[in-house]
Amino acid sequence: LQNRQPIIAIDGPAGAGKSTVARQVAAKLGLLYLDTGAMYRALTWLVLQLGISFDDCTAIAELASLSQIQLVPEVDLESPQRVWINNQEVTQAIRTIEVTSQVSAIAAQPAVRKALVQKQQAFGKEGGLVAEGRDIGTQVFPDADLKIFLTASVQERAKRRQQDFEQGQINISLTQLEKDIAERDKKDSTREVSPLQKAADAIEVQTDGKKVAEVIAEIIDYYHQRLSRQ
Ligand code: DC
Repeated sequence: LQNRQPIIAIDGPAGAGKSTVARQVAAKLGLLYLDTGAMYRALTWLVLQLGISFDDCTAIAELASLSQIQLVPEVDLESPQRVWINNQEVTQAIRTIEVTSQVSAIAAQPAVRKALVQKQQAFGKEGGLVAEGRDIGTQVFPDADLKIFLTASVQERAKRRQQDFEQGQINISLTQLEKDIAERDKKDSTREVSPLQKAADAIEVQTDGKKVAEVIAEIIDYYHQRLSRQ
């Protein structure tokens, strides 16, 4: 443990701004960025592509452990990180409404989690990364050097999502978005396997009304405080 590079775990509900924050913290500290949600999304895309039934847990588990998932870092933080599964690029395909609405059913399967958590741990064997997800501080890297639990109110997350949709010229009401987010929170925090949960030793960072740059600076501060104490 002493010889490995640091690991920062960033967990939290959907729409709290984890991806933007985690990716920029990694870039600033010269660490790798691991987007575990992208792995669950890529697998979901493949299951849909192959027409495997969501009830066929055995086939899905096998697919999860045999598939090769590659996350390719982009130097330009404005472009999305590129994602490949079994040599097919799925960077855009994993962000569709279809994948987004189906992914929680795949992420709830214990054998899928086991296979993907193993891949995530292998990725972090040497340390030197910022990993983002729902169970990083509790299951994937329980020994992480710094654990952040990033949150924002349902109202704030709905507002941010509405802005994203408006950029894509889609109009959805705030009430509908708040309802969707609250439902997703409930699903993610009450599922049987690895529910979204704040690790006992995680620091909660509330992002309502804060600029992205402020949140990043706050996390980097915590990181330096932790390092100086080790
Ligand atoms: O963060 P995201 O929206 O890309 O995550 C996609 C889905 O995967 C979401 O339903 C939660 C799930 N997920 C998970 O269960 N565990 C993780 N470590 C990361 C994501």
